[in-house]
Amino acid sequence: MRILFATSECAPWAKTGGLGDVSAALPRALAALGHELRVLMPAYRRTLQMLGSCGAAHRRYVLPRGGCWPAANMIEIETDGFTLCLLDCPALYDRDGGPYADPQGRDFDDNALRFGLLSDVAARLAAGEVVPVDWRPQVLHCNDWQTGLAPAYLSLRDQCAAVSVFTIHNLAFQGMFGRDLAPALGLPDEWLDVDGLGHWERISMLKAGLRHADCVTTVSPTYAEEIQREIAGFGMDGMLRYRAPDLYGLLNGVDVQRWNPATDQQIAARYDADSLQFKADNKAALLQRVGLPAVPRSMLLGVVSRLTAQKGIDLVLDTLPALLAHGDQLVVLGCGEARFERELQQAAAAHPQQVAVRIGFDESLAHLIEAGADAFLMPSRFEPCGLNQMYSQIYGTPPIVSPCGGLIDSVIDEDGREEGTGFVLDEISAAGLLRALERARGLYLDSAADWRALQRRGMRRRFDWDETARRYAILYVQYLRRRAAAQGDRVAAAVSASNCC
Ligand code: ADP
Ligand code: GLC
Repeated sequence: MRILFATSECAPWAKTGGLGDVSAALPRALAALGHELRVLMPAYRRTLQMLGSCGAAHRRYVLPRGGCWPAANMIEIETDGFTLCLLDCPALYDRDGGPYADPQGRDFDDNALRFGLLSDVAARLAAGEVVPVDWRPQVLHCNDWQTGLAPAYLSLRDQCAAVSVFTIHNLAFQGMFGRDLAPALGLPDEWLDVDGLGHWERISMLKAGLRHADCVTTVSPTYAEEIQREIAGFGMDGMLRYRAPDLYGLLNGVDVQRWNPATDQQIAARYDADSLQFKADNKAALLQRVGLPAVPRSMLLGVVSRLTAQKGIDLVLDTLPALLAHGDQLVVLGCGEARFERELQQAAAAHPQQVAVRIGFDESLAHLIEAGADAFLMPSRFEPCGLNQMYSQIYGTPPIVSPCGGLIDSVIDEDGREEGTGFVLDEISAAGLLRALERARGLYLDSAADWRALQRRGMRRRFDWDETARRYAILYVQYLRRRAAAQGDRVAAAVSASNCC
């Protein structure tokens, strides 16, 4: 199949979280199954700088102008597995900051247009309207609100062949904008009510994807259930229940080339399930790198995360006094909400022997934390899938996780069971986290053999993309067949109508 994957992030070219990882690994896994993949993403300033410094060969062509969108070019690069198509529109993407916000963390005020253009180009490519491109996809796979308008735009085309799939990575981000932008975005009036894109007094690009895609997926089976309930639906649960017949939960995988302790060049010492003794070298290297002393029988807890309420950072802060009293150590890498950054930094300043905090985005430190920590904390309030708990298991660093979303789909609670791979909180609260921490500490300190068995079970689990990529491919085929059958019906109806005449 020819598949166009539209996204606002694709690692290493742009990444703020798991979407960037998935947008590189899933297309690669689909390509490995024999499909032809193109990944469409904006050419942010940093992406172009990376392209300049790595000197990768690329093709460039002018995109035919569509509607009243600003002028844009396409830059195509052959990467390992797929063609990366960078949408180069300097007026919208060539600026300081990240994909969505300026260097101070304020959202760009023209994000509606920035991602409106991305969606428009995705739909035009999918409909075969971009003349220099002799490659017409059968499937348009969109991701999160930034590409939510693409299935909607595609639905305006009469004979469009591509089926559209829309994946929710995080329902909390909904791409909400004022209705006054509807004309600039080319949205017909009849789409703006509550059954369409309208959400309270605004319009939501996420809702456009939910409403218009042929099928909707999300990144774990449990999250697919959770979001149909009011409590986790962020106001979209009604629309999701309406789409339930076409809603699927497929658990993300992990890029096992990049996340493998036996080959990882970003860690201090490589190891596998049979040479776990070398993990200790990574703990020593991590402690040294973040300036913490080595303390015998102290459990080192790791966090690598966006510092937001979603990730339960407040719960980590609430349990900190108990954690410190037990002699645990904590290393946190992340960035996000100013209050969490501030409180974590204050804790590190107050307890320099036990807490180390690094604010920022640091890929190599993230790998070293996965390899060097004894256990990994992820007490998320909700978690569509989560990747770090899978990395942790692969690295023999048992995760301590909330009972929600992809976390329960990928971590088996230890609880004295033979197959356990981590610790699942009995409730999402500071008290729940404390109880899980106590269980983890008990096993870690009291029984080295049981702890090692727990580590090994996690390391032996398979989290690669192969199975999930196959399931996406099956889904694409299912919807292509459905489309073909519907078109066949329409042809048959037209023939019988003309026979009547
Ligand atoms: P989310 O997408 O909700 O942030 P995931 O667990 O799916 O959560 O993915 C987060 C990804 O981003 C992981 O690859 C993680 O290692 C990475 N990451 C998050 N914060 C940082 C950071 N500060 N530095 C380096 N990598 C980070
Ligand atoms: C989102 C979710 C996270 C998921 C990631 C990739 O950012 O918060 O749970 O793993 O997308 O799908």
